[in-house]
Amino acid sequence: MPGAGESDIVLIPLDEPGLARLADTAVADALPLEVMPAADDPQGWTEELREAFLAFHRRRSLDPETAIESTWVIEVAGHAAGAARLRPVSGASAVEVEAGVWLARSIRGHGIGRRVAEALLESARDGGAVRFIVATTTVDNAAARRLISGTGADLDVRGASVDGRLEL
Ligand SMILES: CC(C)(COP(=O)(O)OP(=O)(O)OC[C@H]1O[C@@H](n2cnc3c(N)ncnc32)[C@H](O)[C@@H]1OP(=O)(O)O)[C@@H](O)C(=O)NCCC(=O)NCCS
Repeated sequence: MPGAGESDIVLIPLDEPGLARLADTAVADALPLEVMPAADDPQGWTEELREAFLAFHRRRSLDPETAIESTWVIEVAGHAAGAARLRPVSGASAVEVEAGVWLARSIRGHGIGRRVAEALLESARDGGAVRFIVATTTVDNAAARRLISGTGADLDVRGASVDGRLEL
């Protein structure tokens, strides 16, 4: 794995083919708990959890009737490597956005998360947001904490849960 500076990282708006690729990556190289807030089985994937993952993104991003956020496939050197999302949380004016990101385990720790976080921050600013919120409840979240604090956000740590807030 080259350093992130040498990697070709592209954020591609989620669509059905992208979702299928994302699910393959999640199942092969991440825990349910890391990619889906409601996944209560930290042990591993089942067919039900894969279906729940697909339903989660369809409901939140793909179905225009129910969509509440924008999601991107993080593509690294042509491979679906994870997902990034931005959710407006203050209604139509969208002054606050909540961000989330996960990466396949095999490519973590190479600076990709940092670059994706910067892209999300820029997108939030461009969209007129004034507050950037990141929440994570992963059990092993040292990298997430560093990622969030590195954006300049104030951290609120409660057990395994970390919230970051940054005024833009
Ligand atoms: C959080 C996550 C996206 C970070 O992506 P990444 O590409 O591994 O992170 P980076 O390599 O860009 O590193 C980000 C920071 O974390 C630090 N870091 C990376 N791995 C670390 C580890 N295992 N332990 C401690 N710090 C770590 C890096 O040094 C860097 O800090 P710095 O910028 O101050 O030097 C990734 O670990 C992940 O997908 N985790 C599971 C999902 C999750 O927790 N999502 C919530 C994120 S908001």
